Amino acid sequence: MPGISRRAFVGGGTALGGAVLLGACSGGGGEPRSSLITPDDARVGAVENGRAATGREHEVTLTAAPTTLDLAGTAVSTWAYGTSVPGDELRVSAGDTVVAELVNDLPDPTSVHWHGPALRNDMDGVPGLTQDAVAPGERFTYRFVAANPGTHWFHPHVGTQLDRGLYVPFVVEDPDEPLSYDEEWVIVLDDWLDGVDGTPDDVLDELLQGMGHGMDGGTGHGGHGSGDDGEGPMRMGSALMGATSDHLGGDAGDVHYPEYLVNGRPAGDPRTFEAAPGTRVRVRFVNAGGDTAFRVALGGHTMTVTHTDGYPVEHHEADALLIGMGERFDVLLTLADGAFPLVALAEGKGRSAFAVVRTGGGLAPGADARPEELEGRVILATDLTADEGARLPEAVPHVEHRIELTGGMTHFDWGLNGRRYDPENPTGNAFRVAEGQRVRLTLTNGTGMWHPMHLHGHHFQVGDDGPRKDTVILLPGQTLACDFDADNPGLWMTHCHNVYHGEAGMMGVVGYSV
Ligand code: C2O
Ligand code: CU
Repeated sequence: MPGISRRAFVGGGTALGGAVLLGACSGGGGEPRSSLITPDDARVGAVENGRAATGREHEVTLTAAPTTLDLAGTAVSTWAYGTSVPGDELRVSAGDTVVAELVNDLPDPTSVHWHGPALRNDMDGVPGLTQDAVAPGERFTYRFVAANPGTHWFHPHVGTQLDRGLYVPFVVEDPDEPLSYDEEWVIVLDDWLDGVDGTPDDVLDELLQGMGHGMDGGTGHGGHGSGDDGEGPMRMGSALMGATSDHLGGDAGDVHYPEYLVNGRPAGDPRTFEAAPGTRVRVRFVNAGGDTAFRVALGGHTMTVTHTDGYPVEHHEADALLIGMGERFDVLLTLADGAFPLVALAEGKGRSAFAVVRTGGGLAPGADARPEELEGRVILATDLTADEGARLPEAVPHVEHRIELTGGMTHFDWGLNGRRYDPENPTGNAFRVAEGQRVRLTLTNGTGMWHPMHLHGHHFQVGDDGPRKDTVILLPGQTLACDFDADNPGLWMTHCHNVYHGEAGMMGVVGYSV
């Protein structure tokens, strides 16, 4: 498992440690924003003009609107892009220009954040940082070159909106695709409560009161007491106690979800993927959940992991993948003959998302199937090695920022370095970098719970030779060195992709000095 790099730091001739660099580089209070490159800076457009572009444009209209979702016969109200959950896949070729007009038919302000591609900062979709929120009834056109091939997705960057139905897979094809396969499936996993147990906003309000409050049973909605079957994690309103996972190093999640979905379908109405036996399939997995890691396996099959977060890794055999919120994995599978359960365990929560893969006759497996692969070789992205061509060239970091993940469930005070993100002063404690620098973010999880940490606009390398990623799981107590080249000027969020942790304050900004 990649950890802290053994490479030396700048000034390594002396015995300079990271702490010394930290003292010099960690943002103090009240950095004037004027000394940081803003999204409207000419450098942003200049870097965009340097991206290899095909000149082809893909126009799409994204109408964010209330809609109704059919969950195995139960109609639930939610918000989505169009009328389906997930929204219709967006697929372009690397170098193409995406021209996406967001139409806001929601009652609340919204935005679109493109999770995965390193794009121009003013199109990153973070209200208060890179643009104004798009008001109800208004429109905004996103226009950018999609330079990075890979499995990406998009969602709003406002409040808890991504925990509704507002998410869409975004595939950027590689014109020089080195893999060969017969078919491709995009499989989006999600935890669902919207319209069943109130809304994600209700859940956030409840969680922000802290667990002390929840235990009094003074919650506004939902039941309290035991879980669905009286076993496993305990439910207190929408909060979950005692969801634990060895793979996640302890506490697995904070939120009770009544449903888990594969491509918008609950286990009670599973999707069936059909193909001929022997078909070689590329599966692109996306975890669009709010508070759930999924442990996914296909009964009777092993998977060859080829990519994570869009970047190639050395091919790695896996029985099951553990996917954090915001992460993506691509795998290759050769299908056997029969009908097989595709199971995505909601890790530590005792429930699962489910679909069927059918290549022949035989009884369809039931939603309670627990293929033995789930207990086999369970791979986290940090078990993988970057493909040779995806590795960052060796370099000594010019700057290191040490970022400790802090806070807890009791006060729901998740933060970075003991501070909660302040939307009124987003760049107040910015982690400063400068264009051209090799940057190291040393992330330490000082909490009792795992966190999928995400950085916008860049793909860091985890440790010396770990995968290139934009979202990485940190287990309790774990430290990971995440190195990247500062080649995309602007203001970039770094945050926990547990939407409730992020909203509670586990967010910060990486900013480029002028
Ligand atoms: Cu997928 Cu800042 O988010
Ligand atoms: Cu978190």
